[in-house]
Amino acid sequence: MSSMQPDPSHVRIFDTTLRDGEQSPGISLNTAEKLEIAHQLARLNVDVIEAGFPIASPGDFEAVEAISREVQGPIIAALARAQAPDVEAAARAVRDAERPRIHTFISTSDIHIVHQFRSTREDILAQARASVAHARSFVEDVEFSPMDATRADLEYTAEVCAVAIEEGATTINIPDTVGYTTPEEYKAYLEGLYRLIPELKDVIVSTHCHDDLGLAVANSYAGALAGARQIECAINGIGERAGNASLEEIVMLLATRGDVSGLHTTVTTRELARTSRLVSRLTGYVVQPNKAIVGRNAFAHESGIHQDGVIKERTTYEIMDATTVGLDANSLVLGKHSGRAALKQTLAELGFTVEGAALNTAFKRFKQIADKKKQVTAMDLEALVTDDLRDELASYTLDSFDVEAGSDRPPHARVTVTLPDGETAAAEFSGDGPIDSVFAAINAATGIDAQLQAFRVDAVTGGQDALGETSVVLEYDGQSASGQGVATDIIEAAGIAYMRALSNVVRKAQAASQLVDVGANEPVPTP
Ligand code: KIV
Ligand code: ZN
Repeated sequence: MSSMQPDPSHVRIFDTTLRDGEQSPGISLNTAEKLEIAHQLARLNVDVIEAGFPIASPGDFEAVEAISREVQGPIIAALARAQAPDVEAAARAVRDAERPRIHTFISTSDIHIVHQFRSTREDILAQARASVAHARSFVEDVEFSPMDATRADLEYTAEVCAVAIEEGATTINIPDTVGYTTPEEYKAYLEGLYRLIPELKDVIVSTHCHDDLGLAVANSYAGALAGARQIECAINGIGERAGNASLEEIVMLLATRGDVSGLHTTVTTRELARTSRLVSRLTGYVVQPNKAIVGRNAFAHESGIHQDGVIKERTTYEIMDATTVGLDANSLVLGKHSGRAALKQTLAELGFTVEGAALNTAFKRFKQIADKKKQVTAMDLEALVTDDLRDELASYTLDSFDVEAGSDRPPHARVTVTLPDGETAAAEFSGDGPIDSVFAAINAATGIDAQLQAFRVDAVTGGQDALGETSVVLEYDGQSASGQGVATDIIEAAGIAYMRALSNVVRKAQAASQLVDVGANEPVPTP
């Protein structure tokens, strides 16, 4: 095959962790965190990164623009409703990308057309035509999605997609927006579109399946069997409601059973586990232990019979090798006496470029944990470096805390904090437990009555001296947001996570109260 010809068995991986994934409740990534994830997605070698929805907020716009400027390799896509201001914001945000794409969408199901858009099929068709044409005036690579396609009339959806292709769309994505379809039905739907639109064979057909019935990966696979050569998915399957098709599952399905499908991706599978950990850590969304491919137990054998088999011959009970997904990466990487240069070099090997002030901070934190821990592993370093990204937008910080607790008196905490205006404030509180007392004292010191929705503590690695990693979800003024913290002392890690969640939720509440009106005088909803 000539290098100019697209490979017909290549399935493109379109990652939407930073767009659909970021719409999961409680996730609030700052630009530095989104950039770190985007760089890791580039190392994973995905084909397309959907970096965000630029019209949604100035923060979304800034992140898409930064990713477009800094991340090389994958196509960088920005989402836009089928409206001129959305398309223009998307075009501006991806202007500096090496390979920019605008992804525009509008619903074709009558349920959406009648109840949500209060419109008509004719009007929707005209909007689809105009928005694809408008997007093509800015970029050559335009994707069009008929939202809620799987609950829409096939003939009408085909008519809208044909118009999109006529106006220059290069990818047609068929969303199962509410996770309603089944593999057979979705395959038949795509085959129906191929039959009704002869030009469909000249563009890339894409899947976008939600997991409401647990079928997102199966449906995406069925779509690929019908001819789709792009799959939209998210790391750890995060996304709206039950989430999107999980990237690691669909990639390893194609890698492991390419013998039956004849299809493959060009993802660097050894990066899967690390990408999963990074996304989990920055979003605060835990990966369940039995999660396929990247769960803690995905390659663990409990039964004696299985262990015996694997010791004799790995393939007796393993269909994949843990090393192919990078689950073997937690070997010792640095000793207690390692210097700054060794740390920089090891971080570079782990894929992090840390220099200047950030390297000084990372070195200081490395020394702190090296004094307490016998072994500093790759996972510890990942946890530290990603933890430092989180302070970028922290407007409230914890300066000190002091907790007294014992069996004969209620736990009592004193805290001092720095407020957004640079002033410091102190408060104390006696609560139900030491961590509860710290949280209540922080509320008293900041004057913000945030409500704790969720709190979690995990160990970064095993062992008594493990780093503690905490996640806090707070609700305030109708908004919810999470924050994470890492430290060898879990009360400190919890206090740090609480301050970050507080900074994020206050920022979200302020942004919600200042939302700009777009077009129809309505705040921009996420799709
Ligand atoms: O689920 C959906 O339909 C979407 C579209 C914007 C593609 O996320
Ligand atoms: Zn979606």
